[in-house]
Amino acid sequence: MTSEWWRTAVIYQIYPRSFADANGDGIGDLPGVTGRLDALAELGVDAIWLSPFMTSPQKDAGYDVADYCDVDPLFGTLADFDEMLAAAHDRGIRVIVDLVPNHSSDQHPWFQEALAAAPGSAERARYMFRDGKGERGQLPPNNWQSVFGGPAWTRVTEADGTPGQWYLHLFDSSQPDFDWANPEVQEEFRRILRFWLDRGVDGFRVDVAHGLVKHDELPDYMPPEDSDSMGGAEPVPYWGQEGVHEIYRDWHRILAEYDGDRALCAEAWLPTAEETAKWVRPDEMHQAFNFPYLSAPWDASELRGVIDQSFAAFGGVGAPTTWVLSNHDVVRHATRLALGADTPQGHGVGPDSPGKPEYGFGLRRGRAATTIMLALPGSAYLYQGEELGLPEATEIPDEARQDPTWFRTGGERYGRDGCRVPIPWEAAGPAYGFSESGRSWLPQPPEWAQLARDVEASDPTSTLNLYRELLRQRREQGLATGQFDWVEGAPDDTVWFRVAGVEVIANLGSEPVPLPEGTRVLVASSPVADAVPTDTAVWLVRP
Ligand code: NOJ
Ligand code: CA
Repeated sequence: MTSEWWRTAVIYQIYPRSFADANGDGIGDLPGVTGRLDALAELGVDAIWLSPFMTSPQKDAGYDVADYCDVDPLFGTLADFDEMLAAAHDRGIRVIVDLVPNHSSDQHPWFQEALAAAPGSAERARYMFRDGKGERGQLPPNNWQSVFGGPAWTRVTEADGTPGQWYLHLFDSSQPDFDWANPEVQEEFRRILRFWLDRGVDGFRVDVAHGLVKHDELPDYMPPEDSDSMGGAEPVPYWGQEGVHEIYRDWHRILAEYDGDRALCAEAWLPTAEETAKWVRPDEMHQAFNFPYLSAPWDASELRGVIDQSFAAFGGVGAPTTWVLSNHDVVRHATRLALGADTPQGHGVGPDSPGKPEYGFGLRRGRAATTIMLALPGSAYLYQGEELGLPEATEIPDEARQDPTWFRTGGERYGRDGCRVPIPWEAAGPAYGFSESGRSWLPQPPEWAQLARDVEASDPTSTLNLYRELLRQRREQGLATGQFDWVEGAPDDTVWFRVAGVEVIANLGSEPVPLPEGTRVLVASSPVADAVPTDTAVWLVRP
């Protein structure tokens, strides 16, 4: 009998390069994580998920892996990993690592071997090499576009110096896609899973879990103008192909061979909860990120809709519903929910973007959104820094930018650097406590001094103390496993529901909503007297 901890867990995403830097090079590392685990235990999270720290040339911040079974020297060593894992487990915190199976780095030995080998060789067959179109093969095999902008194919130069075949990369040209029809690729990933499971990890967050299998015929496809990674309603020949599910059934069996209960979480950007739920059927993955929830605008009826669809879809396959508002790929929700202009996922917000909100306005909504989310039954994901109310860093100078999106679109899209800035720990410390040397791989906004953890820890009204209280009450009231019901007759502009014995009222309208008689406020995202003001959410009990 296992506890299936992942059904109810609050999982905190660590973006290692921006969490805490222990050796002063301005880039966060694994010893940095170990040194700061007490803060997470105190916050009250059940698990951490670490974005990739494996060997990588860091062309896409580690999502370009050159060795899946080692730690990049930038982040430390395998011994540092083991120490971090043990320290987390000592504190009752589970650890999930990031697995990137859709593509490797172009520096992976397999890709280097493929470049050196001839067309048609076994080495090339591990990736998606194809001859080009046109008389001399000078045109790409199809019209696919990289998620980061520009063509999804790059032509190689053959060993004899002539222009050669093309390889597919749904992301940067430094991230060649594997051919998952190849048994050798399948076997290699079984080995990689076992490597980390043997070390004691509690699970994997699986990158681009909807992308591994491509349509056999590689048909032309052009995403609709200004679309984001979600794709449109029509089938996309590289997302969500039926064959992908067989891979996860295989992995499910591997995880089940291990003691404890280990979990797989799918990063699959799909337009609806119903689609997403296919990744968490009983013999596949255990969780999938609820991106339709993350993508919902700050609108009561839209939120109610996506909550209903989520329970129906995930519940329908016996999986827990997950909830998430921020991660390292999207504009931080303390900014996003108050943006006055549309920003497709991945495009980012920069100095010239229209509709940037005032910080206080965005934060108010951000806090209310989290207060709704943490009341919802199931599992929830938090992204480092959201517990401090960090906004998106929108004023990063061009010369400091690092996201391949910025380079591949010639600066047309800012990309994701704004949510990846190293987080502040101590207002008076160098780099706000991020690094003893004062270095930080992306510049930290000066206003972040006030948002440092030590400042917030001593302010009862801070976002940090709101998160602590939400997490404490969530546990105490048993919300993660509670029965969810809408409150009948609630005003249109509200998201008003009951879970376990707690009533949640979120006011997304412009008029205050009077508190029901005889209720006591447990937690509130902003001060309330006898009514719930605009952009505020409260948890109530009836004593
Ligand atoms: C999704 C990851 O979250 C993102 O950061 C990365 O760039 C792409 N997958 C490609 O691996
Ligand atoms: Ca470092």
